Amino acid sequence: MIYKAHIIDTPTKDEFRIIPNGYIHVTEDGKIAGIYEQLPAELANEPITDYGDKLLIPAFYDLHVHAPQYRNLGLALDLPLLEWLETYTFPEESKFRDIAYAEHVYRRFVHELWMQGTMRSSVFASAHPEATAKLMDIFREAGLGAFVGLVGMDRNCPEAVQNTTEQVQAFLEQVATENDPLVKPIITPRFIPTCSREMLKMMGKLAKKHNLPVQSHLSENKDEIRWVHQLMPETICYADGYRKYGLLGDTPTLMAHCCYTKGIELRMIRRHHVMVVHCPTSNCNLGSGAAPIRRFLDNGIPVALGTDVSGGHNMSVLRVIQYAIQTSKLYQILTPRKEAFLKVSEAFYLATKSGGSFFGQCGCFEKGYDFDALVVDDAYLNHEKYELNQRIERYIFLGDDRDIKVRFCAGKEIKEPKL
Ligand code: GUN
Ligand code: FE
Repeated sequence: MIYKAHIIDTPTKDEFRIIPNGYIHVTEDGKIAGIYEQLPAELANEPITDYGDKLLIPAFYDLHVHAPQYRNLGLALDLPLLEWLETYTFPEESKFRDIAYAEHVYRRFVHELWMQGTMRSSVFASAHPEATAKLMDIFREAGLGAFVGLVGMDRNCPEAVQNTTEQVQAFLEQVATENDPLVKPIITPRFIPTCSREMLKMMGKLAKKHNLPVQSHLSENKDEIRWVHQLMPETICYADGYRKYGLLGDTPTLMAHCCYTKGIELRMIRRHHVMVVHCPTSNCNLGSGAAPIRRFLDNGIPVALGTDVSGGHNMSVLRVIQYAIQTSKLYQILTPRKEAFLKVSEAFYLATKSGGSFFGQCGCFEKGYDFDALVVDDAYLNHEKYELNQRIERYIFLGDDRDIKVRFCAGKEIKEPKL
């Protein structure tokens, strides 16, 4: 199939690539076979879908989001991290023992990912295996890509949100061999304070045994970091606690936040090829801090974006792009190093090609990449004449999910999931 529209993406972070009235050739396997300014003669007989004056952009990727916190979206943002977890988050997550409740909320959660154009995500479920398996089923039914993590947590939190090393191991052993192309497990220790050494050890072993990726939280909040030092005095930094148990880059690893990652820890995550997931809405809402994103990029550390719902108040990756740009400007003003703020193309790149690299060849319109794409109708924003480079910028700052007309994941058009 050939898709025709104004094609916009970021093969490199420094600028948008814009192909007015361009063509993308997508083969049966859902992969991009070619991208053209003019249709080559040998493709003249291929069926064409023409989206006219609409924009065709890569789909969004949310590399850090908590599905069982969906019901708290936009609520309860008046406490710092540790108090917020105790007061609002653990009580809500404890409800996911109830599979009917879990299915109800998880269907709405996946529906909203679809709505926002988030075609793939890396998700924290709760500590409950049955509900987590249900979430994986709902993703499969919807046709969306996801890494889904049963959250391991067995200390320093209420019993209703805890599980055991044995339960987590049994679940992981079961899902590790499922081999679904789009919906896969990810090893998910919640964070050092809620994981015993036994839990961390088992998770590190299974990551290696089944070559499973890892996700967790790192250096988000000052009280949290102090607590980790008390709990693991033998470590040289917070990240070292994961490293000691094989949970830092032995397999592909996502670490959310990293607001206070510098010095030894920065060098450690760079050496271990950790991908930082920047969650600026959450960092503002919980007053956690501001991550040194420019420093990570200058050091060659890969960075993706996450909504971190419900620390983040919004499921839209577009809004996270906007916050990433704006908070980077505040960071420049308020810190002595005066590091350059993020350009629009850079923040868009983090949400598409950079985040997409965690799922394979995703997030950009290049030969061999999976066709994950959104068709955007921004006609209502074009009351004056705007160039395409201005239209993408206006869509990023002014647009929302209502402008997304068609969604593709791995070459397949994804219709509205059932609630
Ligand atoms: N650290 C441990 N758990 C959480 C969580 O649910 N949200 C955030 N933002 N940080 C965490
Ligand atoms: Fe989080």
